[in-house]
Amino acid sequence: MRLTNEEKSILDGKQGEAARIALSVLVDLGELFDAEALMKVAQVHIDATLYMVDAGLEFAEKMVEWGGKVAVPTSLNPSAIDLQRWEEYRVPAEILPKHKRLEAAYLHMRATPTWTCAPYQHGLIPRFGEQIAWGESNAIAFANSIIGARTNRYADLMDICAAIIGKVPKFGLHLTENRKAEMLIQLKGVTGSMFADDAIYPLLGYLLGEMAGDQVAAVTGIPQNVKIDSLKGFCAAAASSGAVGLCHLVGITPEAQTLEMCLQGHKPQTVLEITPQAIRETEEKLRTVKNDAVDLVVSGCPHFSTAEFIRLVQLIDGEKVHDSVVFWVFTNRVVYAWIKNNGILSDLIDRGVMVFTDGCPLQYPRQAWHFNAAMTDSAKFANYCFSQRGLEAVYGSIEDCVETAIKGKICRKESPWSKK
Ligand code: F3S
Repeated sequence: MRLTNEEKSILDGKQGEAARIALSVLVDLGELFDAEALMKVAQVHIDATLYMVDAGLEFAEKMVEWGGKVAVPTSLNPSAIDLQRWEEYRVPAEILPKHKRLEAAYLHMRATPTWTCAPYQHGLIPRFGEQIAWGESNAIAFANSIIGARTNRYADLMDICAAIIGKVPKFGLHLTENRKAEMLIQLKGVTGSMFADDAIYPLLGYLLGEMAGDQVAAVTGIPQNVKIDSLKGFCAAAASSGAVGLCHLVGITPEAQTLEMCLQGHKPQTVLEITPQAIRETEEKLRTVKNDAVDLVVSGCPHFSTAEFIRLVQLIDGEKVHDSVVFWVFTNRVVYAWIKNNGILSDLIDRGVMVFTDGCPLQYPRQAWHFNAAMTDSAKFANYCFSQRGLEAVYGSIEDCVETAIKGKICRKESPWSKK
């Protein structure tokens, strides 16, 4: 790789040990991908924020010990737990110290404590065409596909190195030629009444992820009036069923206002279709529960927005969560402060909904909860729930989730794509 004099001096340790280690990791990464040089990024989103194993914690603490500070604005993905209300939300006291040590390390490095996996809604929001380095699969897919910012799928710890240096190797999705759509996915027989049900978007995203894998795909037929939160669910699902970093939603993705724009003068190598039957089968795949009993309802994966809270409180409409069910909603501190101020939070708490900040429902320590099965409006959560946590799951719309929470048993209305 071609390095500047300043970069060479960092590798010689002139700017301290944290910078030396961080840059040497980035140079190794660049050489692996044949990058010619490093390039500046405007901001970083760190995914290595939840304590999983000691190695991740020790890496962050070592960087602090060696004087590491972020060189560019840096936001943080969720911790595993609610860092402020951990006691109220039954986090075992013995596991708390490691989560708090990780929090302290990032704050020492001067990261912004966003603790959210939807930093594109409330956080350091990039602009179209901006070069950034983001971790967290749903955020990466959203940044590339909906905003048109440019990032690779940066792995844990690589993101810390990028934040300390403020640069990444020039490769992958940072480069225009690698953002070309290689695959075309067309919606066939998917009608307007199907799009009226927001639950379709995560299912479409899940299918796209399965079809595209790590390829860049273009999708035609998504309506222009799709809500931002539906796109959030779409990207999260796509990046969980496949290694999607970028997909072009023709007419929505800024660099894919037409199909020709994202094909960059080429023809797609593969053309596939999504049909109502495929959507139906995907929904069935995301149902592992054996009967209609659930004891957990989860929303906010990715983190809930203000618009989603407004809808939730309207749907609950004075009813109460059933005694046999726990209803968890995850969000960030900014949205939490807003709903606290406007009374939505107290309405939800009165109705039996538990609102968490900072954390992630997938990683939340559940030892003290004893759940058997969950319903969720997140295809990502439903996908990982059983495979990663051994918890049976069923996917449904937010309307279904609320009805299920109130009635204490699974309620899933028939969707337009359910009819054979
Ligand atoms: Fe966010 Fe955790 Fe879901 S990080 S996207 S809430 S799995």
